[in-house]
Amino acid sequence: MSDGSAAAAGRSDEVVLDVDHLCTYFEMGGGVLSTGEPAVVRAVDDVSFDIRGGEIFGLVGESGSGKTTLGRTILGLVKATSGSITWKDHDLAQLDEKRFRPLRRHLGMIFQDPASALNPAMTIVQGVGHPLRIHGITSNRRETRAKVTEMLERCGLAPAERYLDVYPDDLSGGQKQRCVIARALITEPELVVADEPVASLDMSIRAKVLELMFDLKEQLGLTYLYITHDLASGRFLCDRIGILYLGQLVEWGASEHVYDAPQHPYTQSLLNAVPLPDPSRRGRDKRLPRGEIPDALSPPAGCRFHPRCPQAFEPCGWEGRDLVDALEDRWTRVDEDTFERELEMVGGDLDAVEVERQRLHFPKADAARFGEWLREHGPQLPTAVHSAITDVSDDDGGVTVSFGPGPEPAIQSVEGRDVACHLHGVTVRDGGSHVGDPSHAEHQPADAG
Ligand SMILES: Nc1ncnc2c1ncn2[C@@H]1O[C@H](COP(=O)(O)OP(=O)(O)OP(=O)(O)O)[C@@H](O)[C@H]1O
Ligand code: SF4
Ligand SMILES: [Mg+2]
Repeated sequence: MSDGSAAAAGRSDEVVLDVDHLCTYFEMGGGVLSTGEPAVVRAVDDVSFDIRGGEIFGLVGESGSGKTTLGRTILGLVKATSGSITWKDHDLAQLDEKRFRPLRRHLGMIFQDPASALNPAMTIVQGVGHPLRIHGITSNRRETRAKVTEMLERCGLAPAERYLDVYPDDLSGGQKQRCVIARALITEPELVVADEPVASLDMSIRAKVLELMFDLKEQLGLTYLYITHDLASGRFLCDRIGILYLGQLVEWGASEHVYDAPQHPYTQSLLNAVPLPDPSRRGRDKRLPRGEIPDALSPPAGCRFHPRCPQAFEPCGWEGRDLVDALEDRWTRVDEDTFERELEMVGGDLDAVEVERQRLHFPKADAARFGEWLREHGPQLPTAVHSAITDVSDDDGGVTVSFGPGPEPAIQSVEGRDVACHLHGVTVRDGGSHVGDPSHAEHQPADAG
């Protein structure tokens, strides 16, 4: 756990897994975006971190942030698009299936759903012992049975005789998940990817199964990548934690640093929404970041979190659709007369607006009137989109609004952890989209700190 000494918990400073600029993209068959580009989900997009021997590295993020894809890419179950995954002098990202297979016994996976991990047609001894036979670790049924017996008992299923010859459907959810853990550990792997290992279990048994995983880690000298959207369990289990948002790590470092003094607004919003047993946190704002997670097929420009970020400011990546969203949001709050007047000002129909990343064209609006309105009301829009408008011009009888390009924030070291956020100094991510106008390097938020 994060509070114990590294030596006592069997941890070392040796890096056992080094993930560097990893990308896993899924091409959507036949899909084309409105820009004419092929539709690609950047499920994991330029992720770098390392895992040290004997530690539990937590990976946290909302649904769709790419946690499972990242875990599966590390285990070679999904092909990496680019980047490297270094494990014991091998780059796992480059290995084909044939060269990966002999390594797989050293890399275990605990899946979220026991039903998908245990074949219902196999008895427990067959299912849990299956990897032993596949990897040639045992050569006959007697040896397999002995090893499965030992592992089931380690996993709290004792006496094992009671479980060996039954089928998964004869067991409770908690017992099945203990079998899934036994199956993942039966080959004595060194690194285990545990993907939401307790999410499908009743609350009453989650803590017990997590405790079992922790005890087994200590006994067997394992290293875990623990994937979860449950921040509270990460606090108590993980030595280090990484926060994933739309395929990118936005903050990672020692759990106590990240939990006690989060530096990224997304981490702050997530933590504010979680009831943690810490009296100093009582009464805090319990809101999640505003709005939904954006579509992974077309992530926001600049900082991907900017449309939801309560602290977003000028260089964060404002684009055309943000102004449309801000107008719609404003119009749900103003009176009917104001709404009618402003709708008429933009041409009476938002559907006709041409939306591009750095340009918005209102075909029937009046530039002088719109420019004046923006000067007066822009600062009161629900987001800081107004701050990034560089020009409002008369264009073909309509109005074109232009936006400065906001750079994607690079990773920077802040108080002992890594953070990708312009609040700590405006930076430009290598190879990031919308690499910034150099003038942005001078912008600083009024309330940065
Ligand atoms: N095989 C696939 N083909 C196309 N898109 C995929 C595929 N697998 C995942 N995705 C997409 O990649 C993104 C990341 O998905 P992933 O399952 O890795 O997220 P997650 O963080 O594990 O979410 P959850 O918390 O719901 O399990 C999502 O937008 C998802 O729709
Ligand atoms: S860079 Fe930081 S301040 Fe800007 S939108 Fe992203 S998280 Fe918010
Ligand atoms: Mg998942």
